Amino acid sequence: MFEEAQYFAPVSTTEDGGVVVELSQSHPGFADPVYRARRNAIAGLAVNHRRGEPIPEAEYTEQEHEVWASVTRELAVKHRKYAAAEYLAGAERLGLPEERIPQLQEVSELLEPLTGFRYLPAAGLVPLRDFYGVLADGYFHSTQYIRHHSVPFYTPEPDVIHEVIGHANALASDRFARLYRSAGAAARRVESDEALEFVSKVFWFTLEFGVLREDNELKAYGAGILSSYGEIEEFRGMDIRPLDLAAMGTTHYDITKYQDVLFAAESLDHLEDVVGGFWDSCDDESIARIS
Ligand SMILES: [Fe+2]
Repeated sequence: MFEEAQYFAPVSTTEDGGVVVELSQSHPGFADPVYRARRNAIAGLAVNHRRGEPIPEAEYTEQEHEVWASVTRELAVKHRKYAAAEYLAGAERLGLPEERIPQLQEVSELLEPLTGFRYLPAAGLVPLRDFYGVLADGYFHSTQYIRHHSVPFYTPEPDVIHEVIGHANALASDRFARLYRSAGAAARRVESDEALEFVSKVFWFTLEFGVLREDNELKAYGAGILSSYGEIEEFRGMDIRPLDLAAMGTTHYDITKYQDVLFAAESLDHLEDVVGGFWDSCDDESIARIS
């Protein structure tokens, strides 16, 4: 089983059509029935959403908007120091609200005129083939809930802060958006589950946890690093390896901890050449040869 399955809370549908998100006992919101009811309601919005329809509004509390505002404020400071220039330019173009959680429909409407990308609501884990495949069409699956307000700088699962601050700011860049589309086209092209997993691991070590060199400094462009208050301070001290498709596509990673092995591109051009070039042309045979 692909590891990503473990960090999304399982979502199930009851006989009467209700949607239930099964938070683990260690989740900060586990013992908060009001939060859990909201999580179920938000998951229900995604389960009942049909592509092409507007994304329904999620209800958030004042405390949750404050979580967004404080994380946005703190991350903005860190981004100035640690984020790749192309990501910062994307954030500037997109202009996300700073004081309240944007609705996914609103994110979609900000993004579409820039790079054609639109958001789709996801209740939890989306099967790999769907998640990556629709990137080729300019769709990005996104969770809509926010982390529990008791621990604003921690989340055990990808929440709207990760999906929007991490990914939408990158998707607002033409160059990153092209890479996301290439990853999607690759996922569509490959047939075996092994090849799909290889494509998705290369995505993990680049668009989720990638770093690159800029003026002799290591900068992050991966959404996982850029949306994590703790990890963004740590990535420069990790085991930094050169960009290597075979290694990225086969290295095991643990999603529950900070990523201790990272792959650095020498520049954005280098990333586009190596990783974009790979996604643009890979197939089952070429992946089998290098894995
Ligand atoms: Fe992500």
